[in-house]
Amino acid sequence: MPTQPQHIAVIMDGNGRWATSRGLKRSEGHREGTETIDRLLDHLLKIKIPYVSLYAFSTENWRRPKAEITAIFNLLNEFIVKKLEKMVANGVRIVTSGDLSRLPRKSRDLLADAMQRTAKGKKLTANFCLNYGARDELHRAAAAWATTSAGKSLKVPTEKQFKKLLWQPNLPEIDLLVRTAGEQRLSNFMLYQAAYAELWFTEKTWPEFSAADVDAAVAEFMRRKRKFGGL
Ligand code: IPE
Ligand code: IPE
Ligand code: MG
Repeated sequence: MPTQPQHIAVIMDGNGRWATSRGLKRSEGHREGTETIDRLLDHLLKIKIPYVSLYAFSTENWRRPKAEITAIFNLLNEFIVKKLEKMVANGVRIVTSGDLSRLPRKSRDLLADAMQRTAKGKKLTANFCLNYGARDELHRAAAAWATTSAGKSLKVPTEKQFKKLLWQPNLPEIDLLVRTAGEQRLSNFMLYQAAYAELWFTEKTWPEFSAADVDAAVAEFMRRKRKFGGL
């Protein structure tokens, strides 16, 4: 029996296109996108998938207009304020990947509180990737490795030692990586952790993404034969 994916990663794309095609402001698309996150978490709890990584803001997204960046972080703040109690009640644990120090103060404070309040959640770990870039993560890991061996001659880290230096070393490997809105690229997401992930793409934008789409992705995942280089 093929097993369900344990860890799904999602590149939540197409908020802007969803909005502009309806004559709305891009920020309306981001707002609708936070509702999709809420629905996704509910559904993952229901079908018992224990880990999800959500690409919410990349190291490249700072290139966007300031007003859009502000809108995105305000919506993140609103999402936390509105949904935290529910997440605690449902056994969701919030963790993050990315250097949060560049985030607005308010977002950092709310995230710190949310991580603390949900720390005992056992049903679903939701890894919010914020100011996340895979290259940044790997450069930091390399720098951290060099620092720990300061003065001594630098040894090649084992895979186990190296993984410990990534943002979330205790999450399992990504089994299934989903990207919405028709784009088929990784955009600097999880280059290490998704090394053997199955990839699944949909034309639907992130605000349109539904529980049925999660089911379709999982069903397709379970039909695939994973070989990991073997026969
Ligand atoms: C994804 O939607 C959200 C973020 C990257 C923060 P986009 O804002 O990229 O939407 P499109 O790709 O412009 O439609
Ligand atoms: C990737 O989407 C980043 C997030 C979903 C947070 P982008 O819309 O930023 O990616 P590109 O620019 O199309 O590669
Ligand atoms: Mg996009």
